Amino acid sequence: MTTEFNTLKGVIWIALIIFLTAKVWSYPSDLSAQKTIIVPSISGDHELQMKALSILQNKCNTCHRKRNPFMIFSQKNMNKRAAKIKKQVFELGRMPKEDGTPLTEAEYSTLQKWIDSLQ
Ligand code: HEC
Repeated sequence: MTTEFNTLKGVIWIALIIFLTAKVWSYPSDLSAQKTIIVPSISGDHELQMKALSILQNKCNTCHRKRNPFMIFSQKNMNKRAAKIKKQVFELGRMPKEDGTPLTEAEYSTLQKWIDSLQ
């Protein structure tokens, strides 16, 4: 009786381990499958976004990190903040602040194209 019970316990354990291993293995592929569905639909042109991000990092975050830590741009938040960026950079001309490094023509144009690509 006890040996039968122990065998049964062993079988249940093995089944559980196989089940969990399969779960863990399938997890990253679930994630990447999700990414390919979600990312392009909300982020528009990826390459353009990456160019815009590098401008935001080099010309904006350098100062914001010290003087406006609630407005540090990242790949994750930049699209949500595009309207604010548009307003400050193109409509009001307040950013980059006068003591920051100005944007070049090419940088303005890249930011503008990225913002347009979201609409
Ligand atoms: C030299 C410093 C400096 C640089 C460079 C700078 N900022 Fe700012 N920024 C600030 C400060 C300080 C604030 C908060 C106070 C204010 O709004 O004036 C701010 C606020 C903002 C806000 C929030 C405004 C609001 O109230 O909604 C946005 C958006 C913004 N910056 C965008 C940018 C972008 C985009 C760039 C780069 C092209 C940039 N900033 C470059 C200092 C800077």
